[in-house]
Amino acid sequence: MGASQSDARDVATCLNLIPDSYTFIPVDLGNCCAHLFHRLEPDGFIMSQQSSQGVSRRGFLKGSGAAVAVSTVVSSTEAEAAAPGLQVVSGETSITLKVNGKSMTAKVEPRTTLLDVLRYQFDLTGAKPVSLGGSSGASTVLIGGKAVMASTTLALAVAGKEVTTCESLGGDAVPAAFVEHDAQQCGFCTPGFVVAVRAFLNKYPNATEEQIRAGLNGNICRCGTYANILQAVVSLVKGNSNG
Ligand code: FES
Repeated sequence: MGASQSDARDVATCLNLIPDSYTFIPVDLGNCCAHLFHRLEPDGFIMSQQSSQGVSRRGFLKGSGAAVAVSTVVSSTEAEAAAPGLQVVSGETSITLKVNGKSMTAKVEPRTTLLDVLRYQFDLTGAKPVSLGGSSGASTVLIGGKAVMASTTLALAVAGKEVTTCESLGGDAVPAAFVEHDAQQCGFCTPGFVVAVRAFLNKYPNATEEQIRAGLNGNICRCGTYANILQAVVSLVKGNSNG
């Protein structure tokens, strides 16, 4: 099986896990999809089971803003059958992203992830390639204000969208609270946590401790600094920080 066919199979697998209520659909090229949908979502935060509202592959191609990206990993014939006139991208192409308020151009192939673009073309190395399947949360960035894993998001799917990385949060109250509460050891997980906390607090500024634990469960700290991270976020809630 060629690489593109293999990718298409993985995409199709992912589609069965995507509920209708999600507007942005990250695509996982690895073997770990479920984590993508476990975090920072309203009404309970966690969806640990396969959705009963999955969309069909064809419905996804027709209805999603990520259709161009997906069409790159299915055959041209298949894509056209699904949605006549759909643009099929192959090989290298240029896309423009709005990253931290600046327009930036990247050369990408259909398989290129957002994380690769950020780190190796834009030199924004805050988001980390810890778990390429997205299970660590270390590559968390915001797309249109929503926290997603850059490691499991195809760059083509975010062309023209607003991307916010931890580099833009230097003056934010979140990293200051992490410093104040000594909420890091090696610091490898910290950029992902900082972005995830900012997204979480934007949505739930009055969250309880229990909600904070649930809302941040997509981020893992191998050094086990969770108690301090929790203290940092609680202090932000008490200060009702919006950054
Ligand atoms: S501080 Fe080391 S992984 Fe979190």
